[in-house]
Amino acid sequence: MDDATQQTIYLKDYKPFPWLIDDVHLTFRLDGTATRVSSRIAFRPNPASDGGAFFLHGDGVTLIGARIDGRPVTPVVTAAGLTCAVPDRAFTWEAEVEIAPAANTALSGLYMSNGMYCTQCEAEGFRRITFYPDRPDVMARFHVRIECALPVLLSNGNPTGSGPDWAEWTDPWPKPAYLFALVAGDLAAHPGAFTTMSGRQVALNIWVRPADLAKCAFGMQALIRAMEWDERVYGREYDLDIFNIVAVDDFNMGAMENKGLNIFNSALVLASPQTATDLNYERIEGVIAHEYFHNWTGNRITCRDWFQLCLKEGLTVFRDQQFTGDMRSRAVKRIDDAITLRARQFREDGGPLAHPVRPESFVEINNFYTATVYEKGAEVIGMLKRLVGDDAYARALTLYFDRHDGQAATIEDWLAVFADVTGRDLTQFARWYGQAGTPRVSVSDAYADGTYTLTLRQTTPPTPGQPDKQPQVIPVAVGLLNPNGDQVLPTTVLELTQAEQSFQFSGLSSRPIPSILRDFSAPVILDHPLGNATRAFLLAHDTDPFAKWEAGRTLARDVVAAMILHGTAPDPAYLDGLRTALRADSLDPAFRALVLALPSEEETAQALHGAGHIPDPLAINQSHEALRRAIAGHLADLLPGVVAAMAVPGPYSPTAQAAGQRALGNAALWLWSRLDGGLAAQAQFAVADNMTMKLAALASLLAIGAGRAELAAFHAAWSGDRLVMDKWFGLQVAHAAPAQAATTAAALTAHPAFDWKNPNRFRAVFGALAGNMAGFHDAGGASYRLLADWLIRLDALNPQTAARTSTAFDSWRRFDTGRQALIRAELTRIAATPGLSRDLAEMVGRMLG
Ligand code: BES
Ligand code: ZN
Repeated sequence: MDDATQQTIYLKDYKPFPWLIDDVHLTFRLDGTATRVSSRIAFRPNPASDGGAFFLHGDGVTLIGARIDGRPVTPVVTAAGLTCAVPDRAFTWEAEVEIAPAANTALSGLYMSNGMYCTQCEAEGFRRITFYPDRPDVMARFHVRIECALPVLLSNGNPTGSGPDWAEWTDPWPKPAYLFALVAGDLAAHPGAFTTMSGRQVALNIWVRPADLAKCAFGMQALIRAMEWDERVYGREYDLDIFNIVAVDDFNMGAMENKGLNIFNSALVLASPQTATDLNYERIEGVIAHEYFHNWTGNRITCRDWFQLCLKEGLTVFRDQQFTGDMRSRAVKRIDDAITLRARQFREDGGPLAHPVRPESFVEINNFYTATVYEKGAEVIGMLKRLVGDDAYARALTLYFDRHDGQAATIEDWLAVFADVTGRDLTQFARWYGQAGTPRVSVSDAYADGTYTLTLRQTTPPTPGQPDKQPQVIPVAVGLLNPNGDQVLPTTVLELTQAEQSFQFSGLSSRPIPSILRDFSAPVILDHPLGNATRAFLLAHDTDPFAKWEAGRTLARDVVAAMILHGTAPDPAYLDGLRTALRADSLDPAFRALVLALPSEEETAQALHGAGHIPDPLAINQSHEALRRAIAGHLADLLPGVVAAMAVPGPYSPTAQAAGQRALGNAALWLWSRLDGGLAAQAQFAVADNMTMKLAALASLLAIGAGRAELAAFHAAWSGDRLVMDKWFGLQVAHAAPAQAATTAAALTAHPAFDWKNPNRFRAVFGALAGNMAGFHDAGGASYRLLADWLIRLDALNPQTAARTSTAFDSWRRFDTGRQALIRAELTRIAATPGLSRDLAEMVGRMLG
């Protein structure tokens, strides 16, 4: 493992690598404990560089020997890599190294998972395979030879030869080392085929363990839909003869876009009606699309350095969101994305880990694959598209692909194509990439003589290292309704560029009701004081689906806040609004399911904190529960019928429509279980033939303190399926009562199937613990201690997953002094652990501030 040097890397220090590489030849003689990797690399001086030492990254690789132009050399090897005297002209470097994939528990570089060899090189894992300039701006053609007795041997590009126990692959497209991949295993393929728009025949495969072959059909269809969509919408064609996807059980992340050889966490490929939920299906479709879309946004055009990560990730998330919106319901997808953004990114932006979409420094880059870089990065692109319009967006993207194909680009390059296509000055817009923190936009208004004046003010709070913020360009989509519910101003995008700005609308016959931030047109917090009655009016009448849902959401938020702060009973305006929405058969069931759901406890905590209160997790939990009971009581005449209507006749189908029907039924079941003692949920659990309905029934039972028999039956049925068992572990912790969460999680860590070295299993328990807000923050701090113990333990083997999971603590300053002291003690204890990884050390250091 690498040493925990806390060296900070700065964007401003960027310098090109002094050499260029045309071709890299790699030979792997695979062996669990002693894999030999030989490399032959043709270097030539980089004319764009003003020179520098010859340094190759290397991390935990044993150098066997090195040669330059065939003559042995003796490089100076350090913990970070090697330096060597080299000629100041083109030369050929050869090296042989030894690595031990079976001992690689960090799951970065070349490692083993269930007897299969696989790699994960982004961001800086290639240096754990051999000595190399492991930086994204060094792009080269890779030629790979694999020698191994396992039957399936894969790498990037096209196959160029194979024989007994060997295979060769050549990738014609220059790429950075982070996109290198290799897989060797006893795998079976679910095949497919695609003919591209110019007639190229592409062989497709999803490679899995033979037992999983029956769970690949949906993933293959999703891949084909993604390929078709990227041609139709972005004009992007695939560029190799073969596209392989491999499913791996032990994987730190979700999936990885290695050129021509995407590697996936098996949880994000494998699906069957009996084992995967509707949400799993939707996520699989989205992730397969995301990794495929990287072929152009990430691979053909990559990042100059890791500070530009949002160039590929923000754009690719934006593209996968568009894709899902096209495949399913655009309105529902937009709402889902706003919910996720608020839960994850607003939380990050409001705490000690806040950073700009393009950070200016980092210690460990793996810690910056964040909601801010990804989700806010995608929102920034959405705002740009809204500001310039769809046509200009399409022209800018075409120019981007033409101008930067084959390059390692920057955010400046990205913005320049928009400036060049539109003539717009994007200087102020660029602040979205440099300023951290969530802008707050507050609204006030006035009406006189047929003219309505809307005044918007923006402020962005200080974030670590950024005490003062400048105004940003905020597209605020608004519409106006008149009191009988008709729209008098269709959606119009206001450009808020100053700290305060007024906008006038004239020729009105009466004071309008404003609908603001339609379609969630900017990633901001809107302070728009409206009474409950007005919110209920918008919930009933707004024509913009996001704003309609948002009216219900803010109404729920205000209702729950009044319950917590003043003990007020739930406002009938809210309960009646839910009734109306639930009965509106013209509305998409998936949309109605979203209206029926309460804000998450995290969202309520953020809202209370933002209004200057100290959130009490237990009070929040109890009020949410009381509100659910009140809703269930108010809708008691309707809910059983809605539950019954979810049983779509015929075999299970994962379509958005069928899934929406089930989502509505399960939202109703979730509420109804509060009143019927779990009878309907028990019945559903007993008869359900798909995981969506089984799991929702089990969750409803656990949430009311029942379901022990069902939990045991579930275990008995699924103990042989790793992915389903992850659900079994997670669900119990997620729905444990506040005082039981820590003991439930601790007991599960003693379960024989708790394989803590498997990231999915570790996350099943500890991700769920962090997500159970009242349980995680239960007074006394047992959950804090448990998580800290396990983070320390996992860090010694897998720093990346330990560091990611540590973000559970990032909201600690919101809470009361007692909880703060408990969490600070745990963070301090982690920080003081000898041999702590750079990954986890950076995270706890930033959280402690
Ligand atoms: N490039 C990433 C994978 C990655 C993440 C590599 C972090 C190294 C460190 C990939 O394209 C990605 O973004 N995967 C996401 C899922 C995606 C749908 C947002 C992931 O793994 O969570
Ligand atoms: Zn990505």
